[in-house]
Amino acid sequence: MTNSSSYTLITGASHGIGKAFCFEFARRGHNLFIVALPDKSLSSVERELKEKYDVSIVALGMDLTQENAARSVYNFALSNGIRINHLINNAGIGSGGLFVNSNSELNAHIMRLNNQAMVELTHKFLPSLIEQAPSYILNMSSMEATLPLPYKSVYTATKNFIYSFSLALSEELKPQKIKVSIVCPGAVLTNEDGLKRIESMGWRARLLLKMPEDVASFAIKQMYKGKRVIIPGIVPLLIIRIMYFLPLSLKMRILEKIFRNYKGHDHVQISETEIVEAKR
Ligand SMILES: NC(=O)c1ccc[n+]([C@@H]2O[C@H](COP(=O)([O-])OP(=O)(O)OC[C@H]3O[C@@H](n4cnc5c(N)ncnc54)[C@H](OP(=O)(O)O)[C@@H]3O)[C@@H](O)[C@H]2O)c1
Repeated sequence: MTNSSSYTLITGASHGIGKAFCFEFARRGHNLFIVALPDKSLSSVERELKEKYDVSIVALGMDLTQENAARSVYNFALSNGIRINHLINNAGIGSGGLFVNSNSELNAHIMRLNNQAMVELTHKFLPSLIEQAPSYILNMSSMEATLPLPYKSVYTATKNFIYSFSLALSEELKPQKIKVSIVCPGAVLTNEDGLKRIESMGWRARLLLKMPEDVASFAIKQMYKGKRVIIPGIVPLLIIRIMYFLPLSLKMRILEKIFRNYKGHDHVQISETEIVEAKR
């Protein structure tokens, strides 16, 4: 439950894990400020939430990779009297294939959304989070944060960035009573990329696979327990722990073998609309 004038800001709210976060927070009585690309999926999530829950839902369609996007989100919140005490940086995209075949424009797009937007939103909303403390920041990383994946080099590196940034921030913000958590899921069945990854990994993926609703509900519970690193599922947890103790060269050989099927994947062709299409 949250203060009636306080809101939970969720990015990437129109699909997958972000949408699951919306329903779980609304079920817990939070007012929501939801942000995703401006399309009908966002309006339909907004409508579903309003029909089901008696909380305030404010939706904003915004491409977070645009220059000054974080400032626009912040100004919108300010002019609508929205004060944030939970920030869920969930929006993220990725691509797979040989790095040499990747496209610089897409790589920059992934880094802007996964990292730059997250840093800027956190920076913009921090004064509000401090003012409303105790507050929470939940950043969506991946189990790949500590397992650098060949053939997903840019994506995997952005997830490592989120991991390091969040850990550093969690220590820095302790005196202000702001808890920072990082979620590191394995495979979650949300979109075509996830499906491709699951198919690439065969039986191994079934061991890792989670549904978005399970990830969201587990992550929120762990966040309130003050967990810094949240790994949904026992198998991903065991893999991360075991990999940690392996010699680096062995670890990298194993990861290359597991993800070799990604080698043949095409990186996404470039144009704004194609980038948007490609992440679905
Ligand atoms: N799925 C997995 O297996 C998995 C595993 C580990 C970590 N993760 C991480 O979990 C997060 C959510 O993943 P998901 O699989 O749920 O993703 P998803 O189903 O593809 O949904 C992505 C969300 O981000 C929004 N989005 C994309 N580009 C955006 C932009 N430029 N500006 C604003 N919003 C944008 C999308 O909005 P629209 O709907 O309007 O396009 C959508 O709501 C990501 O950070 C991902 O890296 C996922």
